[in-house]
Amino acid sequence: MHKHGIPLLFASLVTSVSAQSCRLQFDGRVPPSFGVAGFDTPNNFFSETNVLGAGLSFSQLIQLPAISASLFDIETIPIEVTISDASIFNGQTGFRRAELLPASNSGIDDSTTGIKTLHFSIGKDAQRPLNLSHEYQLVFLESNDFSTNQFVLKTGSILGGDTAVDPDTLQFFGDVNQTPSKLLFSVPFLDGVFHNFAVTLDFDALTTQVFFSAGGDPLEAVTQVISNNVSGQGQFYFGLLKKLTDAVGDITRNGFQEDGIDEGIIFDGIFQEDSSAGCVSLRP
Ligand SMILES: *[C@@H]1O[C@H](CO)[C@@H](O)[C@H](O)[C@H]1NC(C)=O
Ligand SMILES: *[C@@H]1O[C@H](CO)[C@@H](O)[C@H](O)[C@H]1NC(C)=O
Repeated sequence: MHKHGIPLLFASLVTSVSAQSCRLQFDGRVPPSFGVAGFDTPNNFFSETNVLGAGLSFSQLIQLPAISASLFDIETIPIEVTISDASIFNGQTGFRRAELLPASNSGIDDSTTGIKTLHFSIGKDAQRPLNLSHEYQLVFLESNDFSTNQFVLKTGSILGGDTAVDPDTLQFFGDVNQTPSKLLFSVPFLDGVFHNFAVTLDFDALTTQVFFSAGGDPLEAVTQVISNNVSGQGQFYFGLLKKLTDAVGDITRNGFQEDGIDEGIIFDGIFQEDSSAGCVSLRP
């Protein structure tokens, strides 16, 4: 049932391994023994109930690709989130979506208070390419009242976006309730390499700073500390939220989605650390 064996050569790992020193708020790095079945029952890593198509279970859509781990994964493994025609969540027929939410991230927990740094690495699966005629949300924070995304990483053809931008780009936006929402950082979305992000979110001063590297390189700040309204707490999503084309009215329901899709995105190194004392891990 599951496809396997992804012939991708992801950039190789850093050679030195030293312990991270920042306190962790949550950790989504799963050991190989966890398996796809581990995602179906309550666990310490991710919610087993959200977000996925009605009638599906995570073990039907998670893949564990046999590729090298990313920068911050030492004894843990990459996770791929896939979508199909069945990925219709909560009657949202205009979207195809599947996303992982950290298990401890209730919407009002400490992952959205104080100063925290969210880490994740993201890569493509050449066997399950995205359709860049569509917009995809890959990682975002949605406020607890669902009124905004305080930040969102997108790729593809962004609805209402700048048509001069190559759709094969990772674009990191601030609060989407700001019009226009601020593009904080963008970088080409390359094949066969992990793109490593760290995002420092100051929930008191309402700022955001982005750090980035490719492959095994240590992270570097790629923005200043930017004013961005990250208030409203909420939940972090990691996966694919594929939007429609030819939207009419309610974009969650009315528009075009082609049939027969098999698309995926690979994550690794999802964790969050406490940066209240200035601690941000730039390398393992
Ligand atoms: C990509 O999406 C467009 C718009 O929905 C659709 O017309 C096209 O057939 C899709 N291409 C593939 C390869 O699925
Ligand atoms: C930030 O967003 C919240 C809603 O999430 C809003 O109530 C508040 O007024 C905003 N603050 C600023 C400074 O824009």
